[in-house]
Amino acid sequence: MSVIQLPTYDILVDELPVILNRFISGLEPSQTFILVDENTVVSCLPRLTEVLDIEFHVISIKSGEQHKSIETCLEVWTQLSERGCDRHSLMINLGGGVVTDLGGFVASTYMRGISFINVPTTLLAQVDASIGGKTGVDLHRLKNHIGLFGDPALVWIETRFLESLDNRQRRSGYAEVIKHALVGSEPLWRYIIERPMELTAELVSRAIMVKKQIVEEDPHEQGIRKILNFGHTVGHALESFYMEDDHPLLHGEAVAHGMLAESWLSHRTGRIAEEIYDEVAELVRRLYPVRSIIKSDYSTLLMYMSKDKKNIKGNLSFSLLTGIGHCEPAVVLTDQEAEAALAIL
Ligand SMILES: NC(=O)c1ccc[n+]([C@@H]2O[C@H](COP(=O)([O-])OP(=O)(O)OC[C@H]3O[C@@H](n4cnc5c(N)ncnc54)[C@H](O)[C@@H]3O)[C@@H](O)[C@H]2O)c1
Repeated sequence: MSVIQLPTYDILVDELPVILNRFISGLEPSQTFILVDENTVVSCLPRLTEVLDIEFHVISIKSGEQHKSIETCLEVWTQLSERGCDRHSLMINLGGGVVTDLGGFVASTYMRGISFINVPTTLLAQVDASIGGKTGVDLHRLKNHIGLFGDPALVWIETRFLESLDNRQRRSGYAEVIKHALVGSEPLWRYIIERPMELTAELVSRAIMVKKQIVEEDPHEQGIRKILNFGHTVGHALESFYMEDDHPLLHGEAVAHGMLAESWLSHRTGRIAEEIYDEVAELVRRLYPVRSIIKSDYSTLLMYMSKDKKNIKGNLSFSLLTGIGHCEPAVVLTDQEAEAALAIL
């Protein structure tokens, strides 16, 4: 059990349900809406229902990244409006990163903003998506192109939700744990090397602590917070590229590919020693089936990278490792360097 405090909200890991009920009654919501997707309505809503001692309405959306769209937001805004949601209503986002990103965005924009609580149910959402205040949706295939910063009132984490996740989803979430270790915590990296894929409350709390420290320093990503995008320049391009494929890549899987490519760039540009690159590559290749990219797809991937929000005056910008637990934000590289990194996949 742990309480992790950010300046404007707390993250509670495996705390007693009475605390959640007390927090909600303190908000005195006029109505409560729980946003779920087609899986969390089955796997997670019964547990939350058992815990909550308030009345609520349920709004369900389709699951998957392809539904993290403005069309889905429109459906949720419409349901909120039809059911009389007002400015004093509360929204609880019960799901993975798609539900917490989209639900946070819907809540932050409905009537100029209503309170929301994130109850993340995937590893990825528990250690990353549900905290830090980034909310939003994709624009066609462009990742998180529409959105805003909006903090939840509370993040309520129960690690028991991870029990119903399949192995592929666990591994996907684990990629963000690996990322947190690589950019901000050498001790967490050692923990991962010693106990790979051991999903414990301690692991979740330690991974959250890395993100907490970074977002506290730079809540709106003006500088240092960009290091949390390590692996995401290439990762987001691959996620977009495969989004409508018969076999899309999960977010964490795409980030794992991105970390491989961007660790190689970190080494290639003299920021990390070859042994460090080898150690990262060994772990990533052991945990994730890496798809190789054919040369004719490079130009499409570069087009997606050119739309990355971190880019500076039209130049590709990367966050690159300078050691285990250390990362440099905003390194400008050429298209040729980015292509060379795709070739190592
Ligand atoms: N806001 C941020 O800072 C941030 C950070 C990282 C990632 N993200 C976003 O998070 C998203 C990915 O999140 P995700 O990996 O959680 O994906 P997701 O929300 O699509 O969840 C993955 C799948 O697991 C199902 N699921 C959720 N909880 C479950 C449970 N307990 N048991 C069984 N099934 C369950 C979902 O229905 C879905 O099918 C991406 O859109 C990414 O851009 C946001």
